[in-house]
Amino acid sequence: MANKKILAVLGATGAQGGGLVRAILNDAGGGFAARALTRNADSEKARALARQGAAVVAADVDDADSLARAFDGAHGAFCVTFFWDHFSPEREVAQARAMAQAAKRAGVKHVIWSTLEDTRKHVPLSDDRMPTLLGKYKVPHFDGKGESDRFFVESGVPTTLLLTSFYWDNLIHFGMGPKPGPDGKLAITFPMGDKKLPGIAAGDIGGCAYGIFKAGSSYHGKTVGIAGEHLSGAEMAAELTRALGKPVAYNDVTPEAYRAFGFPGADDLGNMFQFKRDFDRVFRGARDVETARSLNPSLQTFAVWLAENKSRIPLG
Ligand SMILES: NC(=O)c1ccc[n+]([C@@H]2O[C@H](COP(=O)([O-])OP(=O)(O)OC[C@H]3O[C@@H](n4cnc5c(N)ncnc54)[C@H](OP(=O)(O)O)[C@@H]3O)[C@@H](O)[C@H]2O)c1
Repeated sequence: MANKKILAVLGATGAQGGGLVRAILNDAGGGFAARALTRNADSEKARALARQGAAVVAADVDDADSLARAFDGAHGAFCVTFFWDHFSPEREVAQARAMAQAAKRAGVKHVIWSTLEDTRKHVPLSDDRMPTLLGKYKVPHFDGKGESDRFFVESGVPTTLLLTSFYWDNLIHFGMGPKPGPDGKLAITFPMGDKKLPGIAAGDIGGCAYGIFKAGSSYHGKTVGIAGEHLSGAEMAAELTRALGKPVAYNDVTPEAYRAFGFPGADDLGNMFQFKRDFDRVFRGARDVETARSLNPSLQTFAVWLAENKSRIPLG
């Protein structure tokens, strides 16, 4: 343990960070130790990580001093923010700035920043194909992350910018699973037309991050985009039909209709899907399945993920 390089992992009790902690712990001979960061070291999830061999340390991304302590002595830091807990891109930007500063102060040798595109580079605020949200964003939960890339780059800490993809787990946790339409038939609904959506098992993101830490300096200063598979709505529906043993259709709606669904974040997600649809070459081109598999050999396809998770998808 003493000779191992410490990887400090934000979001360790969650999807992305949890996958990274598992990858570190599952590779006992890999030379890395997991420092699992959480706001509550006494929670059941945090205790479970400690039992499995992680060092659990308290940290809050809103508290710069706690980040400094959390990164102290670490070789690497996995940095991620939690947009859907607060819906504020400004808060994400402030958190990312604090993470980059803390990593620099602690002398961290390799940071992975879990990021997404600043869509305004492709869809300026003047482009009225989609509404401007919160005064200065097109896709708030993307733009704040992309805007924050520079804090890590400018910090001088060797950094890898990790472009993540749509979690297939959204079918379980985010209300995006198949729902019966007026005719009683199940359908998934996305405003993607016939364009393909890069997706990934959320837990596989951490496995890819671990591959990047293991590869080390060859990934410093690089942007890496990952996905488990790129699938159209119709292809996802066909896979769901096979896995569930009952027909699932793809309900293609317009981005306007999706934004009007009215659930919290519907406008942000409507703009996000429209960005992925209208700029599919750029968006898909940035996310390479083979690179992801080389970093994480156990990377799942949608069919493999479904075989494991289909019973967890609510069909209501
Ligand atoms: N859903 C998607 O398809 C998708 C795709 C790509 C990217 N993303 C992005 O992924 C990010 C979320 O990552 P995730 O899914 O891994 O999160 P998650 O599963 O919701 O886990 C977040 C964990 O982080 C911890 N946390 C929350 N607030 C914190 C704070 N202030 N300080 C320190 N820790 C905190 C919580 O643990 P404790 O309670 O133990 O502290 C929680 O278990 C979002 O920003 C989202 O935009 C989502």
